[in-house]
Amino acid sequence: MATIVGGIGTSHIPAIGIAMAKQQCDEPYWRDFFEAYRPVRAWLDEVRPTVAVVVYNDHGLNFFLDKMPTFAVGAASQYRNADEGWGLPTLRPFRGHPELSWHVIEALAAANFDLTTCQEMLVDHGFVVPMQLLWPDTTSWPVRTIPIHVNTVQHPLPTPKRCLDFGEALGHAIESWPGDERVVVLGTGGLSHQLDGRRAGFINKPFDLFCMEKIVDEPELLARYTIRELVRLAGTQGPELVQWLVMRGALGGAVRKLESNYHVPISNTGSGLLLLERAA
Ligand code: DHB
Ligand code: FE
Repeated sequence: MATIVGGIGTSHIPAIGIAMAKQQCDEPYWRDFFEAYRPVRAWLDEVRPTVAVVVYNDHGLNFFLDKMPTFAVGAASQYRNADEGWGLPTLRPFRGHPELSWHVIEALAAANFDLTTCQEMLVDHGFVVPMQLLWPDTTSWPVRTIPIHVNTVQHPLPTPKRCLDFGEALGHAIESWPGDERVVVLGTGGLSHQLDGRRAGFINKPFDLFCMEKIVDEPELLARYTIRELVRLAGTQGPELVQWLVMRGALGGAVRKLESNYHVPISNTGSGLLLLERAA
């Protein structure tokens, strides 16, 4: 059976991709931020996952405000990225795993989650930047991928509780696949940020640190927030936290925290990194 080897929560800010493209990672602004990914990359080298399930929100590249699915699962044999206006480079396409995608889709539908299935899907910075952070050699992606979009852009958004439950069902779906895949689940985005409006630039460090602590052992506590409360506490883009809750849900019961880092600000965002493994 497929196994879930771990879960990673990470920021997906486009400026990170630009810094990587311009080879600015050693500059003072970026050095500590990138340094924190070193042990996570070492863990990946050791654990060698074969599939990355990447939970993120499309920001207008593949879906736009006119048609915005709540949950969408990629079922393509490859995924391309494209410049959405941030100036991010077009990278080598990401290899998909359509058989596992369809299995996950079937299992999630059977668990009463109504999905949009995408046999073609462009992936944006929410997917690409974390992939590049974790596997910086973009000439040879070592994992196959399944992109899962969760809407945090066009209201109404799914509740944090719904997303934690979705993650739990996702975990069961992956583990009922008869293959020997080793799956890492990424939850990308956050933490607190607001990109426009009256509170543009809003960051709530104490709340971010609270979320990074509670998501380890008490994710259901975070799942009690409403989206409105998350916007108030973490800014209009703060609900991206739900992508982390899907990742946490997929890991199921008790977990061990292997790595954790918080860096503020990166661009407009309180930037978090968390590596979790299931407790033995
Ligand atoms: C930024 C953060 C995001 O989550 C995003 O999607 C785009 C930009 C930022 O902080 O600049
Ligand atoms: Fe975002």
